[in-house]
Amino acid sequence: MGSLSTTKKPHAVCIPYPAQGHINPMLKLAKLLHFKGFHITFVNTEYNHRRILKSRGPDSLNGLSSFRFETIPDGLPDSDVDATQDIPSLCESTRKTCLPHFKNLISKLNNASDDVPPVSCIVSDGVMSFTVDAAEELGIPEVLFWTTSACGFMCYTQYHQLIGKGLTPLKDISYLTNGYLETTIDWVPGIKEIRLKDIPTFFRTTNPDDLMLDFVLGECKRSQRASAIILNTFDALEHNILDAFNSSILPPVYSIGPLNLLINEVTDKNLEAIRSNLWKEDSQCLEWLDTKEPNSVVYVNFGSITVMTSEQLIEFAWGLANSNKTFLWVIRPDLVAGENAVLPPEFVTQTKNRGLMLSWCPQEEVLSHPAIGGFLTHSGWNSTLESVCGGVPMICWPFFAEQQTNCRFTCKEWEIGLEIEDAKRDKVESLVKVLMDEKKGKEMKEKALEWKRLAEDAASGPDGSSFLNLDKVVHQILLGQT
Ligand code: UDX
Repeated sequence: MGSLSTTKKPHAVCIPYPAQGHINPMLKLAKLLHFKGFHITFVNTEYNHRRILKSRGPDSLNGLSSFRFETIPDGLPDSDVDATQDIPSLCESTRKTCLPHFKNLISKLNNASDDVPPVSCIVSDGVMSFTVDAAEELGIPEVLFWTTSACGFMCYTQYHQLIGKGLTPLKDISYLTNGYLETTIDWVPGIKEIRLKDIPTFFRTTNPDDLMLDFVLGECKRSQRASAIILNTFDALEHNILDAFNSSILPPVYSIGPLNLLINEVTDKNLEAIRSNLWKEDSQCLEWLDTKEPNSVVYVNFGSITVMTSEQLIEFAWGLANSNKTFLWVIRPDLVAGENAVLPPEFVTQTKNRGLMLSWCPQEEVLSHPAIGGFLTHSGWNSTLESVCGGVPMICWPFFAEQQTNCRFTCKEWEIGLEIEDAKRDKVESLVKVLMDEKKGKEMKEKALEWKRLAEDAASGPDGSSFLNLDKVVHQILLGQT
């Protein structure tokens, strides 16, 4: 038996979906819960655990006695390649194979001696919802953390309607290009109108048994069994949609973001060293940015999953070169599908005095650096929110999942983005110029600063909406207090 104070401590098991854009916000939430008095067990897959140790060194996962890491297998064949795992295979294997490993882990934790209090709640990624079975068996609360925007999550919850209304599966693949995706629908709760092309992409299939379609349907259905759902967003940004969740069949939905601002509350220095990068970070770019004028640099980064063709890479390169702007471009080693990213030597020579390229950067710091004037992004939700927090307007080139929805909202609702549909050099050049030099770009910058202020308000105590919501989730749901 442990000491009284240890056994009395609440113990949250936090388990992210095993991809960078999910691990990062879950780790922030875990640190916040630790700050609020929880013992934390953070569960990575074996594959990601090894990658984090490799990219950050042992300190990255060396927690405190009350903040520990554990691993479970992801069910995929062993690999020592450091690259983004295939998402459909990972979804299929986590939902089919992880539950017994997860349950074994919990019983191991519950039978551990000394300083590990019994597991009192589970905080799981929304798309790792097999964990609900474990929580129900143990009779403990489970909060599902959907790491998407509210608009993205709302659209996922409407997939069964898309099927019911015959909008998916598509009749044949010509529907991807014949204008069908321009169809507007007006029945998604909290969203006045949205084109099919802005709905998360997994419905774009002709196969009624499509793996990702089935995965989304299954994860949304299981979400109904959680004690609560949390989203990394804030009320002022997505009020209508958050409001619409109140009249849905889902458990209560709380907005608790932006977590990258709420985390400022956490003052424990011991937790600072704990990081979650899957790629080795190159932070020399911050010194390079220090030498640049305010709002003068275009930051280009397509996140952790996007892949493109080498032709698209070259179009982006010449677009940036021809814009004559200074740029910081992060090119992940596995960004180009099936090959190494190779840039034309003339591009490298032509831009060597105004372009910096590297393979992974400390993005949050970059986006809050005063030198950054605009962000060419894939509209991943974390990237979008980090850009909002930095007051940085965007050019959006969404790749997949709910990035299309984020792009639509960034451009049309929040008015801080320009969409680029076709990655062609002339288009890239002209949009970069609009973003950095023209009146429209200046207006977007003003708007972005307004959203930044609202994000800060939401995350600040004692009255910020997300600050208060996190407290509610902790006390009413995870601790079960009335
Ligand atoms: C995305 C979506 O956001 C997710 O919701 C969707 O379902 C799958 O695809 P990802 O490509 O990882 O995931 O993008 P994003 O959500 O923007 O997350 C990337 C994270 O990695 C961010 O927190 C970003 O700060 C970090 N990052 C990225 C770095 O720290 N350095 C880099 O160089 C690039």
